[in-house]
Amino acid sequence: MIYTRIIGTGSYLPAQVVTNEDLSKRIDTSDEWIFSRTGIKQRHVAAEDELTSDLALKASTRALEAAGLTASDIDLIVVATTTPDMIFPSTACILQAKLGASNGAAFDVQAVCSGFVYAMATADALMRTGTYRRALVVGAEIYSRILNWEDRTTCVLFGDGAGAVILERSDRPGILSTHLHADGSHRDILSVPGSIRNGQVCGSPFLTMDGNTVFKLAVKVLGEVVDEALAQHGIERSQLDWLIPHQANIRIIQATARRLGMSMDKVVVTVDQHANTSAASIPLALDLAMRDGRIQPGHLVLMQGVGGGFTWGAVLVRI
Ligand code: ACO
Repeated sequence: MIYTRIIGTGSYLPAQVVTNEDLSKRIDTSDEWIFSRTGIKQRHVAAEDELTSDLALKASTRALEAAGLTASDIDLIVVATTTPDMIFPSTACILQAKLGASNGAAFDVQAVCSGFVYAMATADALMRTGTYRRALVVGAEIYSRILNWEDRTTCVLFGDGAGAVILERSDRPGILSTHLHADGSHRDILSVPGSIRNGQVCGSPFLTMDGNTVFKLAVKVLGEVVDEALAQHGIERSQLDWLIPHQANIRIIQATARRLGMSMDKVVVTVDQHANTSAASIPLALDLAMRDGRIQPGHLVLMQGVGGGFTWGAVLVRI
């Protein structure tokens, strides 16, 4: 059997930090409101001249260093992003050029906050055909540019950042299984509905969200996908070493941990420091926990994403 293994991770956060207190000076909000409802204390915001591909480049360079590889060793680049540099070419192709790589394929995946899980599943499936040997899988986002900073119901929730993983073909797992789902009937509860037509932006170019509906649906589908992933392998909940959930809201994360009967000590949490970085949140959290030594070789890790579309999914992986 052909499998894929994670052999390196990296991440990058822009230098500028915006705290809840900073926001409360600009809009009618407070640290108490934001923290008690979401667990968020601060977020990183990209500089004017930083592009999503720049964030991706820094995270990718660190992942390559961790894997002991150079860009020329990579033959597949998959970037998950909802905030690409431009309509086309893909951020993956721009990243490939910035890395100085030219081998193989490069493309973007658009599944909003589930993007990284979708990208990992896509790269894993392509590599298991035997066509590709080493993949760079990235989640990178600059949500600060699609937020209406006057809308306190959404702008306090998100941040910018990037995380990257190097996957290598192997004869032992690695990724044990991936689980992807979507239900487009919920497409309106979380969206940036605008489009470009005839040189004009038509509709709103800002993120809109029905927060309560998103909250309830996220808790439901995240619970279901955990059960689905574990049932496929006959794995008991107690056998999981780490849960790396999408970092949208601490209350959604706690609800999933409760359903798993998992102590929060086994859940990697970054939402307090990073806020919701959409497709970047899972690889950012993974890199943090790999580098600080919490996640060790042999550990069983479940990553799970949920987001606009509505999309959701999970990746079960042996490190
Ligand atoms: N500061 C102060 N007050 C606020 C703010 C704010 N930033 N935002 C909203 N309020 C007010 C509202 O106007 C409302 O006031 P009103 O009662 O006078 O009308 C009051 O607070 C309560 O608003 P609710 O929307 O009911 O607040 P709730 O407790 O449901 O929390 C939240 C809202 C945090 C968005 C919650 O619904 C949530 O976390 N949803 C999940 C959405 C999420 O995480 N999305 C991220 C993207 S999706 C994803 O990644 C899966």
